[in-house]
Amino acid sequence: MTCTTSLYTGGQTAFIHDSDMYEKIVPGLGICSDSCAGLVAGELMDIYSTIADFDREERYPNPSNHLNTVFKRLDQLIALDVDDVTAGTILSNSGINSAFDVITRFRSSYTAELEIEQANAILNSSDPWQSLKDFDYFSNYIQLARTEFHGAGLTAGDTVLFLGSGPLPLSLIVLCREYGLRGIGIEQEKERVELSRKVIERLGLSKEIEIIEGNQFTLPLEEPVDLIMVAAQAEPKSAIFSYLAEVLPTGTKISYRIYEKGMRRLLDTFSRYELPENLREYRRIRPTPPANNTSVFLSVGCV
Ligand SMILES: C[S@@+](CC[C@H](N)C(=O)[O-])C[C@H]1O[C@@H](n2cnc3c(N)ncnc32)[C@H](O)[C@@H]1O
Repeated sequence: MTCTTSLYTGGQTAFIHDSDMYEKIVPGLGICSDSCAGLVAGELMDIYSTIADFDREERYPNPSNHLNTVFKRLDQLIALDVDDVTAGTILSNSGINSAFDVITRFRSSYTAELEIEQANAILNSSDPWQSLKDFDYFSNYIQLARTEFHGAGLTAGDTVLFLGSGPLPLSLIVLCREYGLRGIGIEQEKERVELSRKVIERLGLSKEIEIIEGNQFTLPLEEPVDLIMVAAQAEPKSAIFSYLAEVLPTGTKISYRIYEKGMRRLLDTFSRYELPENLREYRRIRPTPPANNTSVFLSVGCV
């Protein structure tokens, strides 16, 4: 039987597939076969061709247009229950590899746009905390913060620094609010620095969180920090880690989030770089739902 329904609710995919094929790639309904791999690869390339023009112009207009649909298609595609071997085959395909950078850039820019939108909603809300909690990925951040607080062995009163804190520094907000930490965000884009400072003020966290305009070269700060977190979207990864390995004092703890499973690896740019020798991984904590990220903990110069 031929099924012309889009695999993606609200999506505009050109796919026409039979219902058997549909079942093979619906989460929980079994292992994806070779033909399914072709279907997923086709959808990935379709998404790539939709965003390639925007990428060339280095401009992703605000979230309320059709790019929202593309973002959701990508979200659903990477959430498919595709086994690791098949995902590996799909992602090692040379055509997909060249689409990889464009897709990760799109997701990263679009995530920032969503954060800007939510930051403005918080500023305009009569209940800013509720507005923050309404953010789609809020519960993921709660789980990630729990993992990182315990994984890094932090205690209340410690200072955590987030490189790439963005327009809505959710990780810092949750860590400081839930665990009594002090937070420092470093963000390279002036407008995002200003917006995030306003959000922090609106949430009544100005005493706990400070945002500095800068990048990796702003480090090390004069004051000691107990954990340096590197945002998934912080770039360029190899330059950041080489620099941190060179300038941070021995024993400094660093953490970051990666995707290890299935199609989600598409979003992981950490795995494409080799860490400098004196950054040693001492812990890795696999995801606990609703988070999908593995948290990786490093130490400078020692295990
Ligand atoms: C979208 S935010 C992510 C914040 C995240 N949602 C959180 O709180 O966990 C990522 C930010 O990293 C910033 N960024 C990327 N590379 C950077 C770098 N090398 N130094 C400082 N900021 C950087 C981008 O400008 C972007 O605003």
